[in-house]
Amino acid sequence: MKILVTGGAGYIGSHTCAELLEKGYDVVVVDNFDNSSPKSIERVKEITGKDITLYAGDIRDGGLLDRIFTEHKIDWVIHFAGLKAVGESCEKPIEYYNNNLYGTLVLTDKMRRHGCKRIVFSSSATVYGDPEKLPLDESCKVGGTTNPYGTSKYFQEIMLTDIYKSDKEWTVVLLRYFNPVGAHESGLIGEDPKGIPNNLTPYIAKVAIGELKEVGVFGDDYDTHDGTGVRDYIHVTDLAKGHVAAIDKTVKSGVYTYNLGTGIGYSVLDVIHAFEKACGHGLAYSVKPRRAGDIAACYADASKAKKELGWEAELGIDEMCASLWNWQSKNPNGYKE
Ligand code: UD1
Repeated sequence: MKILVTGGAGYIGSHTCAELLEKGYDVVVVDNFDNSSPKSIERVKEITGKDITLYAGDIRDGGLLDRIFTEHKIDWVIHFAGLKAVGESCEKPIEYYNNNLYGTLVLTDKMRRHGCKRIVFSSSATVYGDPEKLPLDESCKVGGTTNPYGTSKYFQEIMLTDIYKSDKEWTVVLLRYFNPVGAHESGLIGEDPKGIPNNLTPYIAKVAIGELKEVGVFGDDYDTHDGTGVRDYIHVTDLAKGHVAAIDKTVKSGVYTYNLGTGIGYSVLDVIHAFEKACGHGLAYSVKPRRAGDIAACYADASKAKKELGWEAELGIDEMCASLWNWQSKNPNGYKE
């Protein structure tokens, strides 16, 4: 079976390519390297001892997609390619909707023309907006997103669902990720954010290596066990395996939605302390005001994925922090020399 992975050089994409290759799938990647490096592909080849066919380019380039689908008989597409920074999306909504919505339209149009109608989509728990209840299950209300990034994920879910409604040959798997963290156990691939990280764990990792001074804890007056924000952190390798399970287990056409999380919520302070254990020294932090748009707590009911896909997260917060520290200390500049 041959899988086209859009955005396969990125953080979650590269880990998914590694798991697909380990399971014997053939992998074709298309990536414009907007927020990734071709080096991750080289590293995935090194980890697995297997080859990847790489197309450098943009999924909005219909001619390129025609070429890929003509040169390969693709069985499934796993669609990661897109922009993903919340703050930036508020400043550049046109770029976000163009990349994310138009990109998905060109991709699905080309898939249809070439007779490939099976897609796994990289969605996010952000589609739930402010959670109506916790833990969040797949039947919870979606929408009410507060930024163009989140809204684009929500729209893409609707677009893919409408495509299935119009043509029942399609298989659409919507995977709603909670907070992906950590890195491959080899320390060869990991998250390589541009500039100062926005997300918690890459920020902590930069404090741990001494590149940033201290972690700002965004609010300690939430209604949580220690007052700091609670999230469902999931090891990126577990998340990657969730994609493989989706492809292995989904045999009938339809639209399927799964939360990919651990079901466990950790606070900002829990994560800082787990990381201190992983890196072997204390970390400076100080409490700052709440970050606009943040919610108190968000964690998954991941039982549907377990029941239907036979998938569940296996790695805990200690493995997440240890693997991130391994990647960060071996690659202090990410993929840059
Ligand atoms: C964010 C996005 C979400 C996206 C996800 C990708 C927002 C509002 N949401 O989730 O849509 O899918 O990233 O991984 O940005 N925190 C600190 N200090 C920091 C950074 C974060 O205290 O320097 C806190 C936050 O307030 C939050 C927790 O750590 O309580 C996690 O934050 P973050 O890693 O940015 O993820 P989310 O906000 O959950």
